[in-house]
Amino acid sequence: MSISFDFTGRTALVTGGAQGIGFEIASMFQRAGARVAVLDRDEAVLGEVWPDTTENVTTYALDVSDTAAVDAAIGDIAHGAGGIEIAVNNAGITRDTVVWKMTDEQWTDVLAVHLGGTFAVTRAVVPVMRAAGYGRIINVTSYTGMHGAIGQANYAAAKGGIIAFTKTTAKETAGFGITVNAISPNAETAMVAAVSKERLAEMTATVPLGRFAKPSEMATAVGYLAAEESAYVTGVVLPVDGGLAM
Ligand SMILES: NC(=O)c1ccc[n+]([C@@H]2O[C@H](COP(=O)([O-])OP(=O)(O)OC[C@H]3O[C@@H](n4cnc5c(N)ncnc54)[C@H](O)[C@@H]3O)[C@@H](O)[C@H]2O)c1
Repeated sequence: MSISFDFTGRTALVTGGAQGIGFEIASMFQRAGARVAVLDRDEAVLGEVWPDTTENVTTYALDVSDTAAVDAAIGDIAHGAGGIEIAVNNAGITRDTVVWKMTDEQWTDVLAVHLGGTFAVTRAVVPVMRAAGYGRIINVTSYTGMHGAIGQANYAAAKGGIIAFTKTTAKETAGFGITVNAISPNAETAMVAAVSKERLAEMTATVPLGRFAKPSEMATAVGYLAAEESAYVTGVVLPVDGGLAM
């Protein structure tokens, strides 16, 4: 089951593209003919899954919360490709524990990667997109960012912040041919594998469609929001979650 997109001539940047949802998103863009820039801090996995010889894919081993590194990478990508039409802010981590046990580091690390990384990439790509009068930014939020989850005050705050950031930047850039949207996934990845079997069964039971998605199903939703044809959609959070958010 797959949908074909055509992103020939486009340059797509994907953060956290070494594995999971980000890998599937980057692969979808590559198959659809785009030039792809994959930003991920896991240099070893990045090199394994996207060797230097991979056609039309360039990798940048960096931490998305490092604004100077993000600025330098985006400058390099824009210079090399002549523009960046699509940016997907997907990189993420969890550092779960109840709020009264949460360390400063658990709090700041999660906020820095999700919210800080989304800010850093957006701030750097918007001028490139404005100059071209065209852009598609897709952020990755979560059900937890809308409804909360025990043990995830840091993650919920970050993902809730991403929703507010998405709507604000959508308003700020709407006059420049740029759309900014978010997806809220529910997919079987390493992040979900960290959950116990019992908890996973409980979580699956709450999904109306009765299963977690394959990460590639997230890429299909991103493809829609990244397409030229989705020009009239901005500032939305699209749940790709089997009905969980109903
Ligand atoms: N899997 C789900 O069901 C689910 C649900 C809701 C939201 N999400 C969100 O989807 C996104 C992808 O999640 P996933 O399940 O594929 O996770 P994953 O752990 O499989 O992949 C995350 C990727 O991000 C990279 N990364 C982490 N911190 C980084 C940093 N500071 N700089 C650069 N790269 C970094 C990792 O190296 C990894 O390649 C995350 O934002 C996550 O919060 C996932």
